[in-house]
Parts: sequence; structure tokens; C-alpha cells
Amino acid sequence: MTHVIVLGNEKGGSGKSTAAMHIAVALLKSGYKVAALDLDMRQQSLTRYLENRKSFSESKGVGLDFPLTPSVEASSADSREKARAEETEALMAAFRTLADCQFVVIDCPGADTHLSRLAHAHADTIVTPLNDSFVDFDLLARLDPSTGKLLGPSLYSEMVWNARKRRAMSGVKGGIDWVVMRNRLSATKARNKAEMGKRLDELSTRIGFRLARGLGDRVIYRELFTSGLTLLDLGGEHAPVKLSTMSHITARLEIRSLIMTLNLPTAEARAAA
Ligand SMILES: Nc1ncnc2c1ncn2[C@@H]1O[C@H](COP(=O)(O)OP(=O)(O)OP(=O)(O)O)[C@@H](O)[C@H]1O
Ligand SMILES: [Mg+2]
Repeated sequence: MTHVIVLGNEKGGSGKSTAAMHIAVALLKSGYKVAALDLDMRQQSLTRYLENRKSFSESKGVGLDFPLTPSVEASSADSREKARAEETEALMAAFRTLADCQFVVIDCPGADTHLSRLAHAHADTIVTPLNDSFVDFDLLARLDPSTGKLLGPSLYSEMVWNARKRRAMSGVKGGIDWVVMRNRLSATKARNKAEMGKRLDELSTRIGFRLARGLGDRVIYRELFTSGLTLLDLGGEHAPVKLSTMSHITARLEIRSLIMTLNLPTAEARAAA
């Protein structure tokens, strides 16, 4: 009954770790038992984010919600085959310890790794944050440079396609729900922004993803990292930090809208199943 949410995009810096942290905290605040798994062995941004949260909570004496954080080690085996087998076993062992979690949120690196592929194949929901740039779009699909027409899926979409195939062949019930989320949207009505929207709409029906409303480009996301807080920790009477501007409030609504769009199974739906 564990629902696996994978944050993935082979493009670096698109907002995977930031979104993973916000989704994990949103689910914790809804009362679910949540685990957060950091598969970005090199940067470990989600791990750092959570460490900062622990330091903040201890130093300020404020109670905050924390996910379980099992660790999965990258293999150092020389042979590629052996390394893959070891990493597969490490991820499966982590999953076995999380059987009583309602949600596992997995942050993937901005690169194609064995662990990332494996996580995608075990996803119930894939969330792909995408910077509002055709450089990032290029990892989802190729466009004809002269006409702007869609030519077909590219690297990352093919990876998701393979994950979907692998899951279908494994006999696990239900497919993978793929949600693409535009990130760092500018407040202005730039031509690029409109053009991206149009192309993503076309692509969503061609390769089967849903489009979330997206997050605006806001400094608050960068500022929150050092305290390990999310926008969802800022509201309310007992919040460690207050929501101070209209931009923060709008940002929080954007996060809530993202969570709604994910359409995750509720406690009632789980009980009925
Ligand atoms: N909506 C946003 N507005 C402003 N800054 C943002 C937004 N989302 C993310 N950022 C900032 O952009 C940077 C990259 O974000 P993040 O680390 O979440 O991306 P990532 O996809 O996990 O990167 P990587 O592929 O390197 O792991 C960070 O400094 C983060 O604070
Ligand atoms: Mg990251």
C-alpha cells in the first residue's frame, strides 16, 4: 500500500530536491507516515535539506515533522554488472523497511543512473519539474528547429516510457502517473513562456503526462534551504517563521495546488482498497 513518488528529470537544477522536500512535508502535515529517499549520491541536497531542518528544530526548540530517511549506498564494485546488482538489492532492501509507510518520496539525480532508472520503474507517480526553457524541453522532446513542430520524444521521456513498460510487464496493478511541473515561471507574459505552454500541452497528449500549474520563480525557495523549512512550515499560529509577503502566500498556494494535482490516494481510498 506504499505509494512511491519519484522526482525525476535528467536535467540538473530543475527543482527536483526542492519539490521533493515540499511534497514530503505536505504529506507529513496531512498525517501520513512518509519516507524520503535521496538517490542523488553526489549532491545529497535532500539529505542536506533535512539535516538543516533537524538543526533548526533543535537549535530553536521548535517541533517539526520529519520523514523516515533510509539510506541507499551507491555501489563501489568494479564490474558494472555487480554494481547494478548491489544497488538493486540496496534499493529493494530500503523498500522492504518502508512497507508501513503510506508514501515514499524519492529524489533522483539530474543524470541517468541505474538507481534513478530503478526508482522510476517502481514509481506510482513521477513528478518532473521543468525549468521554463527550451533547453530543458529538449530532454522531453525534440522540436523541428525551423517549424517548432514536435518531432518525437527524447532522452528522459524514453526513460519514463521504459519504466512504464517495465512496470506493465511486472504485473503490478495500475500504471505510472506522470506529472510535469513547470518551475521558476516568470511573472511576466513573455513569449517564451506562452510558447512553452503550447508545446507542453501538445506533448502531454502525445507522450502521456499531466501538466501541473507550476511554481513561480521566488527567492524564498533558495532562502528556506538553510533552515530546512518549507513554505508549508511558515503559516499558522505556531509556525517557526511567518509568511511575510503576498509572494510567499501565493507560493504556498502553488505548492498546495501541486499536491492537489498529484491526486494521491487518500487514507479513505486506501482503507476501501
Ligand atoms: N521556484 C523556484 N524559484 C526560485 N528558485 C528555485 C525554485 N525552485 C528551485 N529553486 C532553486 O533552484 C536551485 C535548484 O533547485 P533544486 O536543487 O531543487 O534542483 P534539482 O533539480 O534538485 O537540481 P539537481 O539536478 O542539481 O539535483 C536551488 O538553488 C533552488 O533553491
Ligand atoms: Mg537535486
